[in-house]
Amino acid sequence: MIKVENLTKRYAGQPAIQNLDFEVGQGEIMGFLGPNGAGKTTTMRILASFMPPTSGRATIAGFDVFEQSLQARAHLGYMPEHVPLYNDMRVTEYLDYRAALKGVPHRRVAERVGDVRELCGLKEVEKKLIGALSKGYRQRVGLADALLHEPDLLILDEPTIGLDPNQIRQVRELIKNLGKQHTILLSTHILPEVEMTCSRVIIIHKGRIEACDTPENLLGKIRQAGGVVLEAKVGPDNGAEELKKISGVRNVVVDVDGDWKIFSLRVESGADVREEIFRLATDRRWIVRELSQRRATLEDVFVELTHPDAV
Ligand SMILES: Nc1ncnc2c1ncn2[C@@H]1O[C@H](COP(=O)(O)OP(=O)(O)O)[C@@H](O)[C@H]1O
Ligand SMILES: [Mg+2]
Repeated sequence: MIKVENLTKRYAGQPAIQNLDFEVGQGEIMGFLGPNGAGKTTTMRILASFMPPTSGRATIAGFDVFEQSLQARAHLGYMPEHVPLYNDMRVTEYLDYRAALKGVPHRRVAERVGDVRELCGLKEVEKKLIGALSKGYRQRVGLADALLHEPDLLILDEPTIGLDPNQIRQVRELIKNLGKQHTILLSTHILPEVEMTCSRVIIIHKGRIEACDTPENLLGKIRQAGGVVLEAKVGPDNGAEELKKISGVRNVVVDVDGDWKIFSLRVESGADVREEIFRLATDRRWIVRELSQRRATLEDVFVELTHPDAV
């Protein structure tokens, strides 16, 4: 559905993205994950034919986004990072206007607007002025707009930015639902977002692709697979020294809480050291109030890929 080859964009000589290569297949929900300034918006704007790349090529449904932009755009619904809306228009009025602008045939406008209004949960605000809508509703108007001409591909640039947790949950649900019928490329700098919604993830950093895989495989690949927390009274023992001797433990950080010591252990991928810790604790007569495992998250993958010195 999307094919990107060797795509590079420079602003005044400075590269914003460099030699990107990736494909998004029909029906996929692809996450596009990277910190601010990574090049997500730049890539998406090129895909949406808003600006040409400096070099390289991108196609949507087989159409070059630059040379055949009309055909490419017919397949694509794009929701930009900052949805430009007309504040003094009412929701339905705005969608009617956008449908006409997008070339939806006149006799189909009412039906299409009705459908996207329903799909995006805008029924209860259809007569409100856009300027009076909450950020969550504005975001949904942007999404409804992107869906008007029945594209099979959606490109959503940080669709949950600036929303409160409830609105985020609603927009995520909506995206998941849309994913049943659409191919989606979704950018975000929020990690749980891709874990919850995406089948594959591209991690982009400083304009380059650092990884592209399923969230599960990315988790499997990283060296440190989370850690274990032990809270115990260790008496005269040092604690950390003994814990470090357990095979699979990479390092131990200690915090003190009154008589208690809180040990945070980094463990090797795949190792489960809890049984050994329990045995050690009983041997040394430590009093344990917590022994728990923290699973690796995409955040660990992300930190390892983008700040390798921090781990
Ligand atoms: N119009 C522009 N002119 C000059 N530099 C830009 C412009 N837009 C983005 N950049 C730069 O390109 C890089 C990528 O930006 P962007 O694609 O917006 O990243 P993201 O969406 O991942 O935050 C950044 O270093 C940014 O400062
Ligand atoms: Mg951006």
